Amino acid sequence: MSEIHSPFLSACRREATDVTPVWLMRQAGRYQASYRAIRAKYSMLELCQTPEAVVEVTLLPVHQFGVDAAILFSDITIPFLGMEVDFDIAPGVGPVIEQPLKNAEDVAGLREYVAGERLPFIAESVQLLKKELNVPLIGFAGAPFTLAAYLIEGKPSKDFKKVRQFMFTQPAAWNSLMEFLTKVTVDYLALQVQAGADVVQLFDSWIGALHPNFYRQYMLPHMSLLFSEVKKLGVPSVHFGTGTASLLSVMKEAGGDVIGVDWRTPLGESWKGLRYECGIQGNLDPAVLFASRDMIQSEIDRILDEAAGRSGHIFNLGHGVLPGTPEENVKFVVDYVHERSSR
Ligand code: CP3
Repeated sequence: MSEIHSPFLSACRREATDVTPVWLMRQAGRYQASYRAIRAKYSMLELCQTPEAVVEVTLLPVHQFGVDAAILFSDITIPFLGMEVDFDIAPGVGPVIEQPLKNAEDVAGLREYVAGERLPFIAESVQLLKKELNVPLIGFAGAPFTLAAYLIEGKPSKDFKKVRQFMFTQPAAWNSLMEFLTKVTVDYLALQVQAGADVVQLFDSWIGALHPNFYRQYMLPHMSLLFSEVKKLGVPSVHFGTGTASLLSVMKEAGGDVIGVDWRTPLGESWKGLRYECGIQGNLDPAVLFASRDMIQSEIDRILDEAAGRSGHIFNLGHGVLPGTPEENVKFVVDYVHERSSR
């Protein structure tokens, strides 16, 4: 794979490309009729554990839209299966945990495991995909804070009160939980890379709940260790979060060849703040995909103008494609980014 010409891989290494690479977080999902047809046959968790179906779904957006990278179809909660945490992914809601973690004892009860033994369908899916793909494959994992947010809150949350309370009132248990999740996550990413993933992305979707001082105190040591281990895997990494305007520099300090930004901060300003020492990915507002072609076009123009042709820009949304997004607008985004950036 690394032998073939890929603007996405080049941009991850901050090398010049003849076109701005584009892929979209959650590029395979319910907004696609083809996805809904496959999904009708499986629950979300069954789908994630069926390699042939994972391959089919992962390839959908690659074939339909011509994106420059594929992302393994899975979910950040899949490592919970190995830990023997009881949970489900409720349609329209998200992950729901049967018995949320409350204390050190609950943390100690999480099962340590080897991803290759407990989650063999992951390696199998990646290996099958590598035979089919002519673009790079992104492997991914949820970052420890975001995983802990589900394990402690028990369901999707808006304010993450319980996580922050846990962190502040039970710091020793919090550190044990972070050590455990860091270890499991490194092993899980290693499995994907050994099976053939070309790049890995860490989704720290809910990290924006923290003040930078608390990130520094409670997360940075763990995230630095995580990224130093990921570096040893020998593939580029993308470090993504939302609500991170005040966290970008400390996130970069933790690690990642590319920093992913959401839609709330101007991409140009964010990149400048990071002194152009990493690549940047983002930041089209996913809701703009519901708007007129003129609006979509002018937002893409703005983002490309802010990136100003610098090496290391990967076009993406600021978060995942929303259910209900018109499929033809996704195609329009990919085509327009390619056309406008190769002029
Ligand atoms: O990007 C991709 O195309 C790969 C697929 C992917 C999914 N989940 C598929 C999915 C990825 C990268 C994820 C990661 C994920 N899962 C994150 C991090 C990214 C982000 O969006 O912040 C988070 C927070 C989750 C947890 C989760 N899983 C949520 C919030 C939901 C949505 C609930 C809903 O029904 O709207 C899920 C389920 C999920 N994961 C779906 C998909 C396509 C919907 C499943 C369905 O019902 O078909």
